[in-house]
Amino acid sequence: MAFKILAMKTLSTQVVIVGAGPSGLLLGALLHKAGIEHIIVERQSGDYVLGRIRAGVLEQGTTDLLDYVGVNERLHKEGLRHDAFALIFKGAFHRINISDRQGGKHMTVYGQTEVTRDLMDHRAALGLQTVYEAEDKKTGRSVAVHDFDTDHPRVTFTKEGENYEIKARFIAGCDGYHGVCRASVPTRSIQNFEKVYPFGWLGVLSDTPPVYHEVTYSNTERGFALSSLRSMTRSRYYIQCGIDEKVENWSDDRFWAEFKTRIDPEAAKRLVTGPSLEKSIAPLRSFVAEPMRFGSMFLAGDAAHIVPPTGAKGLNLAAGDVNVLSQAMVEYFQEKSKAGIDNYSARCLRRVWNAERFSWWFTSLMHKFPDTEGQNFGFQQKIQEAELDYLVHSEAALQSITENYVGLPH
Ligand code: APR
Ligand code: PHB
Repeated sequence: MAFKILAMKTLSTQVVIVGAGPSGLLLGALLHKAGIEHIIVERQSGDYVLGRIRAGVLEQGTTDLLDYVGVNERLHKEGLRHDAFALIFKGAFHRINISDRQGGKHMTVYGQTEVTRDLMDHRAALGLQTVYEAEDKKTGRSVAVHDFDTDHPRVTFTKEGENYEIKARFIAGCDGYHGVCRASVPTRSIQNFEKVYPFGWLGVLSDTPPVYHEVTYSNTERGFALSSLRSMTRSRYYIQCGIDEKVENWSDDRFWAEFKTRIDPEAAKRLVTGPSLEKSIAPLRSFVAEPMRFGSMFLAGDAAHIVPPTGAKGLNLAAGDVNVLSQAMVEYFQEKSKAGIDNYSARCLRRVWNAERFSWWFTSLMHKFPDTEGQNFGFQQKIQEAELDYLVHSEAALQSITENYVGLPH
């Protein structure tokens, strides 16, 4: 029997980033700015990565980072500054001003897909190396991480039938919830904390003027709804749905009819409906992996934690992680100090758990929980309404919700 021995091409760099989602791309931009060499390895194609439709609310800490790396031209042109968000309960609309309460801090509505596209274009313009489709579709051989318990970790992958190895000082696991980095850690070295919610979000994107001009969260007896936007001509709406719901069972007409019942009556009258450009169902999950560092490998973004989207914290948490990680790597390479990398996990996890708590609380306050149906549902609904009533009338409560919504410092 003849064996074909494939030669391995070896590259080396300072940091290998696994995953070219927003976390990996932003980390790449930050490392480049600091003069740290890196290569990004992504299993999918660039078009595939851009095909994912995700949330679109950026904290000021995130837009500050995009300003810092100079990926901000379109963001400033097309992003919408938001100084407030709104809550609907018992059929009434309540606007909550953030900026007045949080020293002028605001949010920016700008789709995550656009952030990803801008970061990709920036990389391409600078000639920075990204290996897309680093996977052998035939054999299923994908990216693998090795020796991260030593000071010379490696990443291997197959691209167009050739085997590659990248040697580096650090690996950054920016490969999302289903990535290979977290999955490669021995189970004895990692602890996972998880809560799966008994419902999902059915989302619709449509080229219709948004019914509200600010992000508006509804608590209703029929369940939660969210009215968001991408521009003054493009709406993004969601309704809470059953966990086993199938998107095929939701015609556009059925979606609009249900959505109308979950906004205030005035808004329902003026709502402009139209064909959906995208329609999908997402499950809701809270998840944290501890720690976020394993020797020479660091986890960042969705690879390390997931929040339910109710507080719009996902991308913002990811930006916080890579900011801290890039600073830690700068300290290591330029100041020869290990303090930043040693402190990375604890520093990130503190902020992550704060956002996990806020996202869990806001999700619990706004959704209808199926296990409270029947006799207890009325009680649950009344308690939620009482808390919401307190929230919009207590200055202390308003300070707290706006402080968390606008985002805690990195
Ligand atoms: N090898 C290489 N790349 C991989 C691998 C692998 N084995 N597994 C996954 N990836 C890639 C995915 O294809 C994806 O492009 O890693 C990338 C991870 O991107 P995201 O899932 O978008 O995660 P992240 O960059 O951390 O973005 C966080 O996304 O889901 C939202 O709410 C979340 O807004 C937050 C943001
Ligand atoms: C969105 O615009 O998609 C969006 C806005 C706010 C959220 C979640 C998603 O809390």
